Amino acid sequence: MQKDFLWGGASAANQIEGGYLAGGKGLTSVDLIPHGAYRREILAGLRHYEDVPEGQFYPSHEAIDFYTHYKEDIALFAEMGFKAYRFSMAWSRVFPTGLEEEPNEEGLQFYENVIDELLKYNIEPIVTINHFDVPKTLIDNYGSWKSREMIALFEKYATVLFKRFKGKVKYWISVNEINMLFHLPFMGAGIYLEEGENREQVLYKAAHHELVASARATKALREIDPDAQMGCMIAAGDYYPYSANPKDIRAAQLANQENFFFIDVQSRGKYPNWTKHKFAEEGIEIGMTEEDEKVLAENTVDYISLSYYSTRTSKAELEPGEATTGNAFVGAVNPYLEKSEWGWAIDPLGMRTTLNTLWERYQKPLFIVENGLGAYDKPEEDGSVHDDYRIDYLKQHIEEFKAAVEIDGIPLLGYTTWGCIDLVSASTGEMSKRYGFIYVDRDDAGNGTMARSRKDSFYWYKKVIETNGENL
Ligand code: BG6
Repeated sequence: MQKDFLWGGASAANQIEGGYLAGGKGLTSVDLIPHGAYRREILAGLRHYEDVPEGQFYPSHEAIDFYTHYKEDIALFAEMGFKAYRFSMAWSRVFPTGLEEEPNEEGLQFYENVIDELLKYNIEPIVTINHFDVPKTLIDNYGSWKSREMIALFEKYATVLFKRFKGKVKYWISVNEINMLFHLPFMGAGIYLEEGENREQVLYKAAHHELVASARATKALREIDPDAQMGCMIAAGDYYPYSANPKDIRAAQLANQENFFFIDVQSRGKYPNWTKHKFAEEGIEIGMTEEDEKVLAENTVDYISLSYYSTRTSKAELEPGEATTGNAFVGAVNPYLEKSEWGWAIDPLGMRTTLNTLWERYQKPLFIVENGLGAYDKPEEDGSVHDDYRIDYLKQHIEEFKAAVEIDGIPLLGYTTWGCIDLVSASTGEMSKRYGFIYVDRDDAGNGTMARSRKDSFYWYKKVIETNGENL
């Protein structure tokens, strides 16, 4: 791997910080999503957050309390030799309602402290501007990204960050897994689907607002800090055809097309042709203006970042019961792949395939900013965890992206594993779905000391980084 390859880990504000009202922070979408029975429906935008009985447990409120533990946690990242740490800023920590004229200084100061702590150890901060959290006020007042008002509000928020962290943050990511909007609209973008609303109309219009907002943010970044880079971010994973039946091949092609919709716009600067037909046929109106077209065309991204957990499989005629239930992307079960304890398919080779697809399609540098195995860990008395299953998973994936770089010639900026320290699961709200090299003593109901300890994978990853990926 190249000398400056960015090895590290990744997280998101709402899954680690806690301190949900500390330092003037406002409530955000994720603070309204409980653990347990109602979570999935809320994430899917099918149940209102108010429509749950009292007494629920909200995991984001304390999460793993990175808010007060950040120095200790970053010291552990440094001990592993991290070259980069990807994290997100909470919009509502900076603008508590999203509507204020001036940002919340205490929120900005917290992020500045985190960045300075990282830089102290020469760890490159990779900052996601928006990772699954929309200020509650913007959901209540505007229906979140359904409204065009969100474009200017996001631009204001991003501009404040660029001005404050100019020269300190080189890599920005506008919106985490922007394509999640189509699968879990409330998790991805704070969107509810009201009864009688046309789902496609709502989602494509919201997508348009997000795309214009991220292009405007990119424009602002170029003006404020021309040395910095902006990346988009896709929940990646190629769709395979289930069989050689041309119908399955076409089904996979269509699924890929839809999955690449956002990145086509962010990287190529214009809507793919098929959308024109779709919008005309289905009467979808996204409110594109000439100014939108221009800003999209002129402000494409510098690099493409991605999460990769697995590939997906498309079958033209999916029988009932044949669909995967494992994650947000519905498809057929791939009989050739093993699954994680949460039913997520495991496909290391698919990572190489997916990287090749993205590279061939966009010809821009790639950055794997999420990959990992959610698993149950059993800590020993002394806090150690023998997680050879995690080491095995990561090792197989690293081998594949190394081949993509060294043999296929793909420019890859770095690799930040997901949940380098145990954190709250986005889809389930559990703590027990653990991804980390660092164990956090906290359970699904919020019990535990929050103590941190090193798993076997901690020492393994340290070696991987030390040897720049030679010693797996
Ligand atoms: C990605 C998200 O979808 O996958 C993360 O960007 C999330 O926020 C990760 O945590 C893993 O998913 P989960 O549901 O296991 O937490």
